[in-house]
Formats: sequence, structure tokens, C-alpha cells
Amino acid sequence: MRAAARPQAPIQRVRTPTGDPAWLVTGYDDVKALLSDPRLGRSHPDPDNAARMSRSAIFGGPIGDPETEAAEHARMRRLLAPSFSARQMNQLRPRVAGLVSELLGDLMHGSPPADFHQAVSFPLPALVICELLGVPVADRDDFRRWSDDAAHNTDTERSHAGLMQLWQYMGELVQRKRSEPADDVISSLVTSTDQHGSADVDGVAMLGAGLLFAGHETTVAAIDRGVTLLLTNADQRDALTQNPSLVPAAVEEILRSSLPVPTTADAPTGGLPRYAKTDVDFGGVTVAAGDLVLLGLDPANHDPQHFPDPERFDVSRTPNPHLSFGHGPRFCIGAPLARIELRELFAALLDLCPDMTLAVPVGELHARDELLTGGLSALPVTWPASPGATREL
Ligand code: HEM
Repeated sequence: MRAAARPQAPIQRVRTPTGDPAWLVTGYDDVKALLSDPRLGRSHPDPDNAARMSRSAIFGGPIGDPETEAAEHARMRRLLAPSFSARQMNQLRPRVAGLVSELLGDLMHGSPPADFHQAVSFPLPALVICELLGVPVADRDDFRRWSDDAAHNTDTERSHAGLMQLWQYMGELVQRKRSEPADDVISSLVTSTDQHGSADVDGVAMLGAGLLFAGHETTVAAIDRGVTLLLTNADQRDALTQNPSLVPAAVEEILRSSLPVPTTADAPTGGLPRYAKTDVDFGGVTVAAGDLVLLGLDPANHDPQHFPDPERFDVSRTPNPHLSFGHGPRFCIGAPLARIELRELFAALLDLCPDMTLAVPVGELHARDELLTGGLSALPVTWPASPGATREL
């Protein structure tokens, strides 16, 4: 649930949760245009003094060096593209389906109520990423914990420590994959960066940690949101149950929609951060070189010019050109994978758990405002079970 009504001005002066000044852009066409505007980037010439979006060590402030940003970004996309091709992703689909039915099966074999966030939303994307990267099963719990820490928005120390542990772990994994390559993304990155017998270990470790972060918490939040939306919109859930061919459209609507839970955030969140590389005249103001610009994906996804009745959750909404995966040169590399995970999960959920309901009123759910990617701290659900089989959460 968004904290405030969508502001009218195309670009507004705001303060981020760190108290730093920023420009916020909210209209769909404006956000989309600025996402592919080369005058905006992720780096800043004076990163220590740049405005920050949050205290997160990952996404809170500038990333990269203005001199090399474009070349580094192009190199990153080139390296990752083969691992995320449609063919590679489709090969992963049966494994994703298998993980979905294991997790849902375990959940339903337990007795209600249960925490869907802990049982399914959190582990599914982590297991899929671990599978993709080639992280051994025994290390997966550590991996998940570090990713959660790294995403912390308000505790810089925790976020930094999580990130450092991830990098260190990935460095060791990269070294192992050099001597024992397997059919996974880390091994193929090691091979592609291996020049004259020495792979770019730090670079691959950083890419791997970045992938884990980019692909994990975002998907956890989308699953939490989708389950909450379906369990609080009975008509939409029934429509989907009666017509499972709507699942892909429902997934797009889940991606577009906001979590229907009050947020405690008192400042704009959810915007993609960019820094102006030069003075930019936009919407009647001059954004000075070095200023932070927040591109509000959530307000853009609720712009009535593009989404009639934008607050309505409508599993058959078409077209649905939401910007949840970004747009332009940085469009999400993992979008096809995220779509596979979400489609497999929601199709199986309706099939295997047709009578699931929320175990608490929706107003009692807590949004994870301390996390960059949002989501819920817990998602208590219940379903009809044999008498006497209840347990405490
Ligand atoms: C529902 C799930 C997901 C959402 C909502 C999401 C959203 C986004 C968004 C908005 C961006 C653009 C960032 C920007 O412009 O600054 C992005 C980029 C990215 N995403 Fe995702 N993502 C999701 C899942 C994934 C997955 C599963 C992976 C990989 C396993 C992934 C990997 C990436 C990478 C590597 C980038 C950086 C692309 C670049 O800078 O060129 N994402 N994602």
C-alpha cells in the first residue's frame, strides 16, 4: 500500500530516509524516458559526499566510477547474457517446478497455521539462485542469511557485513569452480573471464554476489505480495482457479501491484536511484549535475494514463506494461527467471492449496520497511485440517 497519493508535479524535491535531498519522478512516461536517458547513471564523481537513497551498502548510494561505468556495465551484460538466455532459463523450469512442489508439499503436510514467508517465499528464490550459481546445498542457509543482511536498509554495518561475507564466500566458491567446473553460472563466468590461465576471481565473485542479491529478495517480496493479494481478493483468486491460463497475466499484475499492507516508511521508497551526469532540464526544473534522482516505479505502475483503475488488482489486466523490471539498458537480466518462478509457484499454489486463507487479518501483516526490497516479515496462512492438528506459529 503506497504511503501517500501520487504527487501531481512531474518532478518533486524530496528527502530520502537518510535525510538527503533528491528529485522524485512519478509519471509513467517520465520514469520510462529517464530510465533510458544516458544523462543519468549509477555512479557519482564524489561518492563519499553524494546524496544517498538509504543506508544499504548495496543500493543505497552511488556505484562505480563515472569514467568506466558504461564500459563496465556493457561487460557485465555481455558476461551474464549467455547464462540467462531463454534456452538456459527453460532448462531450469522443471527444477523450479520440482522445488515448488517440494516446498508446498512440506507446507501442506504440516499442520496449520504456518508462516508462508518462512516456508516458501524466502527459500524458493534462494534455492533457485543457489542451483543456478552452483552453491552447494550445505552452504545455502549461510548464503540466505548473508543476503538478508546485505539487503538491510537502515543498519549500514549489518548490510556491509552481509555483503563482505557474500563476497568472501563467492571468492572461495570461484576458486573451487576453477579447479572443478560444473554446469552452473559461476563456472561459465570463470571460463569466460579466464585469460591466460587466470580468471578474474574478484570480478566473478562480485558478479555472483550481485546476482544473488538482485535475484533473491526481489522475488521473495513478489511472492509475499502475490499470496497476500490473492488471499485478500477472493473474486480474483476464483477467476484464476477457474481459468489457470490467466496465471501469466496474474503474475504481471502481482509484479505491478503494491503490497496491500500499511507501510511505516515516511519517505519515498521503491524508486530506482540515478545520479545526473550533467545538468538536466526536466519538468520545468534544472536537475544539477550530481543530484540524486529517484525513478518511482511504484507510482509509475499506478499511473491512470496507462493503467485504468490502477488500484484495482485485476488478474486479467491487459495490456500491463509495468516497469517493475526497470526499462532500458539496465532492464532486469533475471526477469525471465523471476517469471518462471512466479508462474510455477502461483499455478501450483492454486492447484495444491485451494482453500488457503490468511491466518490473521491483513491489517496485522508487517511490511519489511527496513529492507530495500520490501516484502513481509511473516505471512501466516491456514487451511482446513483434521481437528486437533493446529500448532502455534
Ligand atoms: C520479481 C523479481 C525481480 C524484480 C522485481 C527485479 C527488478 C529489477 C529491476 C527494477 C532492475 C533494474 C535496476 C536499475 O535499473 O537500476 C533489475 C536489474 C537486475 N536484475 Fe532483477 N528483478 C527481479 C529478479 C531478478 C532475478 C531472479 C535475477 C537473477 C537471478 C535478477 C538479476 C538482475 C540483474 C543482474 C540486474 C542488473 C541489470 C543491469 O544493471 O544491467 N533480477 N531487476
